[in-house]
Amino acid sequence: MIYLDNAATSFPKPENVTKKVMEILSLGIGTPGRGNHISAAKATLGVNEVRGKFRDFFNLLEDFRIIFTYSATDALNMAIKGFLNKGDHVVITHTEHNSVSRPLKAMERDGFISLDIAPCNEEGYVIIDEFKKLITDKTKLVVVNHGSNVTGAVQPIEELGQIVREKGSYLLLDAAQTAGVVPIDMRNMPIDMLVAAGHKSLYGLQGTGVLVLGERIFKLRPFREGGTGFDSQSECQPVNWPEAYESGTHNVPGIISMGEGLNFINDTGIKNIAERELSHVARLYEYLSRFDNIKIYGPAPDKPRTAVLSFNILGWEAEDVGVVLNQNYDIHTRAGLQCSPLTHQFLDTFPVGTVRVSPGYFTTEKDIDNFCNAIRRIAQVDVPVY
Ligand SMILES: Cc1ncc(COP(=O)(O)O)c(C=O)c1O
Repeated sequence: MIYLDNAATSFPKPENVTKKVMEILSLGIGTPGRGNHISAAKATLGVNEVRGKFRDFFNLLEDFRIIFTYSATDALNMAIKGFLNKGDHVVITHTEHNSVSRPLKAMERDGFISLDIAPCNEEGYVIIDEFKKLITDKTKLVVVNHGSNVTGAVQPIEELGQIVREKGSYLLLDAAQTAGVVPIDMRNMPIDMLVAAGHKSLYGLQGTGVLVLGERIFKLRPFREGGTGFDSQSECQPVNWPEAYESGTHNVPGIISMGEGLNFINDTGIKNIAERELSHVARLYEYLSRFDNIKIYGPAPDKPRTAVLSFNILGWEAEDVGVVLNQNYDIHTRAGLQCSPLTHQFLDTFPVGTVRVSPGYFTTEKDIDNFCNAIRRIAQVDVPVY
């Protein structure tokens, strides 16, 4: 099996992650904040330790700014629905994932907010002048996808965030594709809230995510309410951070797996991880560019980007290429719209989408070469265009 779908979820996980999760599952662990026995205490300690690791990873001062969630989607919903009030104006970009555009479109449809979408250029970068024009003094929130899960384009967040601040608004950064491969500093970058997926470049288990609340955030309505393990006599949700946002039993193996993922990233170095992944993209880009009947979307390898590459073979439906790669070559990619219809609208690939390849740190050059050989064989087939 050649796994080239790390933008969906990373595989394999680093050895220390797998080992730790197996250990927890075989030795057992309790529920954080619930029970006065040693297993519960161990779980509380384990979860809090990972919270501290995330605090350092994103360069924050306080642990309580790290909220554990069940996915990036969960965290995005929490930030969007907890922050916005009736009548607010919101700006997003044409690279957003459905986990941002769907909740906001529903709020717009219900008359709760008004929404504008900033356009992108052909490479997938936000057009700064257009972005600037859309943000007004009524704009409460701007949501930006840091790294596109379709083109790999990484947005100039310092510049965009500065514009947002100058206009008196707040920036929510969707770092689902960048946390772990692009350095992020919450205190020195103009980011107010950040969302990361635990199971992608942070190497955690599926069912994990993080919401990070920056220093300009003082208030957020809880999106989920219920048991927090303390203050149980109170009828209402506690106001303490992070407990106010973490109702329900934590995904303890998942959270601890993210902590191990952070250990791996810190030991290996973000720069080394990104360099290795981008060398695979450069190899893919060079090979696929040789074909007249292959169109590559997104920025060139030397531009700010992650290791996500989209392409189409003329005459082939993207989904069909994905199926042939899987069935005949055991190569796993992601074909279609990748949950980002807005991106495919500006790429002019809607509704068919693209074939997306996303190598990871553990991908080898041989995997890339085998993939290229499979594409050569598929691209040589003369498909009738109807
Ligand atoms: C840019 C982006 N945002 C959000 C998500 C949603 O992540 P999750 O599956 O953890 O909810 C993804 C997942 O593919 C993504 O690529």
